[in-house]
Amino acid sequence: MLGRIISGNTGLLIARKHSRERVELGELVVAPLNNDSKLLLQVVDIGYSSQLDKKLLEFIAGISVEHGESIDEFGKELRYYELLSLTPLLEIRDSNVSAPRVLPGIFTPIYRVNSKDLWFLGGRGVSLGFIRSGSNVLDIEARLPVEKMLSHHVLITGTTGRGKSILMKNLLWQLLDLDNVSCLVIDPHNEYYGINGKGLRLHRNASDSLLYYSPVNYPGAISLIVNISLLRPEHLSIIDFSDAQWQLMNAYYKNYGDKWIEALLLGEELPESLKKSFNEATLNVARRKISLLLDIEIKNNSIIPRGIFTTTGGESTIKSITNALMNGKIVIIDTSTIKSELELLISNMITREVYREKLSRIHKQEQAPIISIVLEEAPRVLKNNENIFSTITREGRKFGIGLIAITQMPSLIPRELLANMNTKIILGTELSSEREAVINSASQDIKYLDRTIASMNKGEAIVTSTFSSIALPIKIPFFDEEIALKEEKEKKKYIGL
Ligand SMILES: Nc1ncnc2c1ncn2[C@@H]1O[C@H](COP(=O)(O)OP(=O)(O)OP(=O)(O)O)[C@@H](O)[C@H]1O
Ligand SMILES: [Mg+2]
Repeated sequence: MLGRIISGNTGLLIARKHSRERVELGELVVAPLNNDSKLLLQVVDIGYSSQLDKKLLEFIAGISVEHGESIDEFGKELRYYELLSLTPLLEIRDSNVSAPRVLPGIFTPIYRVNSKDLWFLGGRGVSLGFIRSGSNVLDIEARLPVEKMLSHHVLITGTTGRGKSILMKNLLWQLLDLDNVSCLVIDPHNEYYGINGKGLRLHRNASDSLLYYSPVNYPGAISLIVNISLLRPEHLSIIDFSDAQWQLMNAYYKNYGDKWIEALLLGEELPESLKKSFNEATLNVARRKISLLLDIEIKNNSIIPRGIFTTTGGESTIKSITNALMNGKIVIIDTSTIKSELELLISNMITREVYREKLSRIHKQEQAPIISIVLEEAPRVLKNNENIFSTITREGRKFGIGLIAITQMPSLIPRELLANMNTKIILGTELSSEREAVINSASQDIKYLDRTIASMNKGEAIVTSTFSSIALPIKIPFFDEEIALKEEKEKKKYIGL
């Protein structure tokens, strides 16, 4: 027994703690109710209390501080003690659970939770980690239904270094076993494939189900090159251009079709009917901006590609990526060596094509997997309400296409989009403004977890989701040690090393 309930109300109960028991913030405890059910509660605050008056306590401490006298130990645990503040989470019965609606009797004992109490969390789905009671990890996994979770969008948030990418690696590892789900991962840190360490390439299905695109010639990488004839003015919508520059680009596209970029960069003439509203300065600025963006040099009136946008080859890159995603695969795009603007452009091109293809399959009533698009530093694209990523956040779930938005700064994502992300995985977050943004848009009321969220260690998280009955405290397995290492050992066993 950890203690006994002594006061409170249906929103918050207070228990006196047993002096010998160690209880942590965030721990889960149970209190038996009359009718064979139990109340599941979470420790949300711990404070001192005493039978003695505050002034007297200050006086006793003063005698010791000033005169070095030892403090009277007689009956210490009876006179001084700790009070636990407990938030009721659920009423648990043998066959069902419901929202807590009753109070336990006064002096009801409380106990540490065990895996059996949490029977209702068992089930199928993708595992996010192990249920955690404070820092004590239980032998029960937090699972959510994968198709629903991914099509209704996921936010992964937390201060830098708390383990967002490790969690993402764990999830992708499990998705490599599934055909009904595919993932496009835009990877600005080149950390998922595992070029410099442990990553998804170690998975037994990697050769069949994982595609890795990179501008660098790494072993196992497919060359990331895209032919400039595939570019449309709308792909550049994610980048800042003035109205005059937009009109100019559209005019070139209208007149030159697939060759519009080349024509614009080489300053080819436009017919009089399209030309009149532009001046030479607009053309020059647009040329400079586009050649810088696409890493294309103009020399002796010809264009020399220096980066991933080329004039020869790369015609089928976007199509191949889209096809792979329509076949349940995971596609990683290493954008670590390219400029942020170019990364946005490529992501925009691919995502638009994937969205278009998915809609067309639905229209033709053809089967296609659930597609999830993983975006690191998501506010870069979600702060703007008018692009493909915000469209997906608002409407994608109807078509089975979702986002996994990863960020340290959820407060930069518009509220409406945040509210559309029905699963939020919240890792330790120091800044109160960031906690506020995510707590206010969570699927469960988790205001009482504010301090817990501020104090969580690496790999600890709270999951709120419309697909879970309570906000789940979890410990995320450490990919490098618990997942990749296990696979390596099994492979070695298999080949007899
Ligand atoms: N679940 C975990 N268990 C133990 N240690 C972890 C866990 N997750 C992460 N770590 C440790 O923290 C480090 C940083 O993790 P990770 O790169 O996932 O953080 P992040 O939240 O993605 O940071 P950033 O915002 O900078 O991208 C890891 O290299 C690892 O040492
Ligand atoms: Mg990261």
